[in-house]
Amino acid sequence: MDHKKEIAVRLSKITGLSEEETFKLLEIPPQLDMGDFAFPCFVLAKTLRKAPPMIAADIAADESLKDSVFEAKNVGPYVNFFIDRSHLASQTIKDVLSSGDGYSSSDEGSGKNVIVEFSSPNIAKPFHVGHAFTTILGNSLSRIYKKLGYNVIRMNHLGDYGTQFGKLITAFRLWGDEDKLNEDPITELLRIYVKFHEEEKNDPSLTESARENFKKLEDGCPEEVALWKRFRDMSLVVFEKLYKRLHVEFDNYNGESFYSDKIPAVVDMLREKGLLTESQGAQVVMLDEYDLPPCIILKSDGTTIYASRDIAAVLYRKETYNFDKNIYVVGIPQALHFRQVFSVLKKAGYECADNCEHVGFGLVKFKNMKFSTRDGNIVLLEDLLNEAVAKTREVIVENAKTRGTDMTEEEIDDIAEKVGIGAVIYTYVKSGRERDIVFSWEEMLDFEGDTAPYLIYTYARTRSILRKAAENGIDYSTDKEKASLLTSEEEYALIKSIADFPGSVNKAAASNEPFMISRQISLIARNFNRFYNNSRIINLEDEDLKKARLLLCEAVCDIISEGLDLLGIDVVERM
Ligand code: ARG
Repeated sequence: MDHKKEIAVRLSKITGLSEEETFKLLEIPPQLDMGDFAFPCFVLAKTLRKAPPMIAADIAADESLKDSVFEAKNVGPYVNFFIDRSHLASQTIKDVLSSGDGYSSSDEGSGKNVIVEFSSPNIAKPFHVGHAFTTILGNSLSRIYKKLGYNVIRMNHLGDYGTQFGKLITAFRLWGDEDKLNEDPITELLRIYVKFHEEEKNDPSLTESARENFKKLEDGCPEEVALWKRFRDMSLVVFEKLYKRLHVEFDNYNGESFYSDKIPAVVDMLREKGLLTESQGAQVVMLDEYDLPPCIILKSDGTTIYASRDIAAVLYRKETYNFDKNIYVVGIPQALHFRQVFSVLKKAGYECADNCEHVGFGLVKFKNMKFSTRDGNIVLLEDLLNEAVAKTREVIVENAKTRGTDMTEEEIDDIAEKVGIGAVIYTYVKSGRERDIVFSWEEMLDFEGDTAPYLIYTYARTRSILRKAAENGIDYSTDKEKASLLTSEEEYALIKSIADFPGSVNKAAASNEPFMISRQISLIARNFNRFYNNSRIINLEDEDLKKARLLLCEAVCDIISEGLDLLGIDVVERM
């Protein structure tokens, strides 16, 4: 039974509000002694012409809200609902343990297409920690939407087009080194790109040559296209290695180049609708009524730009996927760009512009961390991952020594890779995405803190309890009703936080904020550890309560791994 829904159904019969609205209004009270759900009565004050506390008292007195499972009490302007602890425990545990594709899975999104555009690095440029932000957020959002039954299309809008490729072609012909390119393509491409900018200051003919080369590329000249394609393919090999490590996959890599031949149609459409204006030789769409600067569609030399490709992309996506939602996981600095793109479409009469959303995120900073960076100031994701894994490995080896566990080198490597990468991913998704992130080794690898290592460790330790139960021949799985014995303060707090987990997944999707999930599993892990530190499990004499607690342990494992999986983090069975 979905308790929140049941309360909404009963309430709506009394208040006359719709079930949906009632459902949305129901809150989770800040303290356990205030019940499981609270209904604020403010919205009814106007129609009923009564003070909210009086309304709350009337509602709470209604017998139809109460039975052996539900209790209702008014406190000030709220009606607080209490669910019988035994009932909540057995119901929750049963639901968690019997849900095949996850306790939080639902059919909310059935029949709906969501495009999640994320990662979208620029070809021939290093993949730095900022790209990791969009990659990790987007990966998590795709998983979240999928869990809720949406049909998700994961798109990587590669920055594989634009004037910079004219520069790279010119630079490569002048200074490119074949061997270095094959060895470490991105470093070599970056080297000649930087050199181009230095030399260009004193040699305007370079600028001209780059412009010509880009024009040739747009016109499909074979040599320029071949060179560009080589740079693109080589860069993708490097990016895909990182994606593999992060378990990130895409349905397509339709980058900027993919849309270049779709732009003439966009230009025609805008011209037909009378929206194109000439400004200093360029073709622009004025956006004064949206309080935005004009959006350039074609430059004075007739070449396309970033924005025109994005406009073409929205139209292509609408036609191909008929999306219900089209989200862009891109840094906050591009907010203006997206407002312009969506506004041009809106002005041209495309309603789908309302279903496009820019999901922005903050900056990445480092506290007391030194990297042997290969490229000046930017920190490469690969370096961050490698350091994190190496540091995690040290801790794992140390812990194993103290506890006397013997693990093979291979096992240690595997655990270090999963936990180390998990620690990095978690740092990106543990706070609201618009906040800047500050990396520090002490914080991200703190096995007691709000970190992936803490969560994975909680999981692994709980697994070991279950293994021990199996070794001792305890079969707890057959009688799930036993879970109704879990009514102590600590058990109740833990079960309640588990029962609230699906809601956190819904909220994460509604706000495109994976941290709603990380926060919830972190709470569950903390509640579990409080319970675990004060309760015996395996060596308990009461056989029924022992089984009930083992059921609870299994539910905790399921939820932690489900939650971490939604964030893109692996668990390990022991560490
Ligand atoms: N390649 C761009 C960058 O690295 C991000 C692309 C964002 N997506 C888009 N549809 N414009 O800054």
